[in-house]
Amino acid sequence: MSPAQRIANRLEELARCTDDPLPRLTRTFLSPAMRRAHDVVGVWMSEAGLAVHVDAIGNLVGRRDPTVSSPGRKTLLLGSHLDTVRDAGRFDGALGVILGIECAAALRDRALPFALEVLGFSDEEGVRFQGTYLGSRVIAGTFEPQLLDLRDVEGVTLADAICAWGSAPSALAAEARSPEEIVGYLEVHIEQGPVLEKHRLPVGMVTAIAGQSRARVTFHGMAGHAGTVPMSSRRDALCAAAEFVLTVERLAQDTHGLVATVGQITATPGASNVIPGMVELSLDVRHQNDALCKSANDTLRTAGTLIARRRGLAYEFDTVQESNAVPCDTRLQDVLKEAIRAQGLAVCELPSGAGHDAVALAALCPVAMLFVRCRGGVSHHPDEFASDEDIAVALDVLVQAVERLAQDRG
Ligand code: HGY
Ligand code: MN
Ligand code: MN
Repeated sequence: MSPAQRIANRLEELARCTDDPLPRLTRTFLSPAMRRAHDVVGVWMSEAGLAVHVDAIGNLVGRRDPTVSSPGRKTLLLGSHLDTVRDAGRFDGALGVILGIECAAALRDRALPFALEVLGFSDEEGVRFQGTYLGSRVIAGTFEPQLLDLRDVEGVTLADAICAWGSAPSALAAEARSPEEIVGYLEVHIEQGPVLEKHRLPVGMVTAIAGQSRARVTFHGMAGHAGTVPMSSRRDALCAAAEFVLTVERLAQDTHGLVATVGQITATPGASNVIPGMVELSLDVRHQNDALCKSANDTLRTAGTLIARRRGLAYEFDTVQESNAVPCDTRLQDVLKEAIRAQGLAVCELPSGAGHDAVALAALCPVAMLFVRCRGGVSHHPDEFASDEDIAVALDVLVQAVERLAQDRG
């Protein structure tokens, strides 16, 4: 079996580690499915010669020490995230972890002047607690303690979830790596967009990753009887939210380079014959330019205030997380470009509209990403797909990139 076929088979197997009824794939932070995923991927890491452990925030770590004595005993990090969105595709995140393991296996007999780690981060998507990059932020040493108070839809705090997993919030700080011990971080990820397909290229090199902010927006009105409360005296929270959602869409349509999404909305009490008294919705705003992302966020916060005031409702706009745009490291980009060219391929350089763990790790070390073409640019959807042929190219590029970095430091 070719390495690419093995990767494809493993992606199918890993996709069966889901918290939802099969074939629906949902694997969230510290869920039962995540524990099963650790068992499955942990075996593959061991087979590749990696020493495996799960750290205090639920990252799966496979490590191989340097085979030759090297100054400073640094570590090169590979990997991506093991958590998924709801009703996910099987490639987002998982491809970077499984391909990283395959890369470690390919280099198993190669003397390397640095240690190699493949990381399966525990929470990149932020589905359960809305705060993203929880796993990679702990590794980068940028995890803020106030995140421990975040609550999931059941009201469980992040701190409680960590304890229920068998870990402890007090153990997180010790997982942080120091910059001087890390060579850098290379992440392989599906593009989740149409560019590589348009250029008919299997892989592309990421130049920068868009900044993003996430907020929780709440409208407080007055629940009431759907049959007896006159339209003129209603304080309908869902109508206010609906006006806000269309304002979000219109601002993004009218602002070049801005994308904004309301992905979650909850109306309570949630009965067909009761006027919604409260609505909570998520807001995701992104732009390659941090200042424009921030001003869009401010515009939307103010728009919500005006909608609430006009309708006689109370209103909350709570920013849950903000991450600035991240440029990829030029040396690591050069190494990726050389490795892509060595395949006889043109180098397509493109920004990432999606967020990735590389955003968090950029606080720790140089980062770079290799994108893999995905069919129709579809992602965050079960139809997500990357071909064995493109995965094979991505693996060759990653192996070559690691070998070039080894020559750098050899
Ligand atoms: O939302 C994103 O961009 C990523 O998939 N977490
Ligand atoms: Mn994703
Ligand atoms: Mn992802």
